[in-house]
Amino acid sequence: MELLKRPRRLRLDGRVREMIRETRISKDSLIYPLFIEEGKGIIKDIQAMPGQKRYSVDTLPFALEEVAKAGVKNVMFFGIPSHKDECGSGAYHDHGVVQEAFRIAVKAFPELYYIGDVCMCEYTSHGHCGIIKGDTVDNDKTLPLLAKTAVSQVEAGASMVAPSDMMDGRVLAIRKALDAAGFEDTPIMSYAAKYASAFYGPFRDAAGSDNFKGNRKTYQMDYHNRREALKEVYTDLEEGADIIMVKPALSYLDIIREVRNEVNVPVAAYSVSGEYAMIKAAAHMGMIDESAIIAETTTSIYRAGADILITYFAKEIAAMVEEGRIG
Ligand code: PBG
Repeated sequence: MELLKRPRRLRLDGRVREMIRETRISKDSLIYPLFIEEGKGIIKDIQAMPGQKRYSVDTLPFALEEVAKAGVKNVMFFGIPSHKDECGSGAYHDHGVVQEAFRIAVKAFPELYYIGDVCMCEYTSHGHCGIIKGDTVDNDKTLPLLAKTAVSQVEAGASMVAPSDMMDGRVLAIRKALDAAGFEDTPIMSYAAKYASAFYGPFRDAAGSDNFKGNRKTYQMDYHNRREALKEVYTDLEEGADIIMVKPALSYLDIIREVRNEVNVPVAAYSVSGEYAMIKAAAHMGMIDESAIIAETTTSIYRAGADILITYFAKEIAAMVEEGRIG
């Protein structure tokens, strides 16, 4: 057969397949989310996310030790306060659960990099991501509280803040507040294109907001829209965002690619709780090969254009990188 082009030539030898890979995965780009609950001696399984746990400030070092051992360098903290109120005051309290977590963590494992998720939904009695007005969130009243939350997290030791609330103007409000407090070198990773998604379901259990009955469609994006993601991304960049995030990841690979093609800043993807839970559930049922699925889905997110991946599988992925089973 006279064939000049035989793509299989480059697939016949495993060493050549590895040589020509277009997507490579580095442990350095992984971020592992952790849930810290107010209280003492807590190491509690999160039912909706098998394998994930909630820790209290005093047990947190055990979790951080595992992270460090796995070779994951970056963690993101979510706080779960014992008391919630209308205005989410636990989010910006100097001695709030997440602030105390940063203080302990930075001391215990200074080699790790700490990121604070900035939002109010875990701290409000109604479960919305800000101050309530009628049946939605009052954008402009929420901004100063988000800014206060960000500053308090950085004062406590966070090296980066990641606002996930989707209020308009929050990146600018946070940037100004950080600068005014002398934190002009602290980067903001903005959840820029964050869609209102059923994939966040298990997170509500993890973060103790499972009493939340409403939805976030008046602030998070409608998943029918692609161009709107670019509008959000450009707005956040104009306001001073350093890193742009797309969330969720797996059903939004087209958005990741779109954003990657448009901007010259790092793009992060958040593979959320529902993506994790689906893989865990199917693996538990014996329906899929868990680590092969982790490798393939993770690679697809990077191939789509993500530079950074926030994932509950971070430790597993790091082990797979180490053993040459991914990347
Ligand atoms: C807080 C926040 C949420 C997630 C990250 N930050 C929940 C939500 O917006 O409803 C979801 C993360 C996940 O599902 O893993 N606003």
